[in-house]
Amino acid sequence: MAGVLKALRPILLAAVLAGSGPALAGDMSGGARVFQAQCSICHHDTKNAPPSVGPDLFGVIGRKAGTLKGYAFSAAMKHSGLTWTPEELDRYLADPGKVVPGNKMPFPGMHDSARLDAVLSYLETLK
Ligand code: HEC
Repeated sequence: MAGVLKALRPILLAAVLAGSGPALAGDMSGGARVFQAQCSICHHDTKNAPPSVGPDLFGVIGRKAGTLKGYAFSAAMKHSGLTWTPEELDRYLADPGKVVPGNKMPFPGMHDSARLDAVLSYLETLK
């Protein structure tokens, strides 16, 4: 898994960066579309979905970081001590590498606060 992820990293990053481009410009407020464009390549959003590159995000709000059964989290995520409140998610998604140093989510961070708010609202519907 770790090896595969390492090999895929450049491709995934390119896809994520492509997804964050002009395609979204027409609909910045649609959290589902932001999720589709920037998260769904690595995360499912439905109940009991099999692990993807990243853990299923159904029910992520209120969950303790790194605890979803069936997903092989990094030690950094398992020991982060975080619980995914909207506030912690906001901090994490803006700069994953800074908030959980050494975690394995290959995502550069979301700096557009409107887009970040939109995706957070979407995550709150996943329950
Ligand atoms: C290129 C793949 C990739 C993309 C894109 C990505 N993630 Fe992740 N994500 C991961 C991986 C891998 C992990 C596991 C991190 C670890 O164990 O260190 C993760 C972990 C997470 C976690 C922690 C979950 C938990 O149960 O502790 C959250 C929350 C999260 N991602 C949200 C998002 C959101 C929201 C987006 C879109 C804005 C996103 N991710 C985009 C790969 C990705």
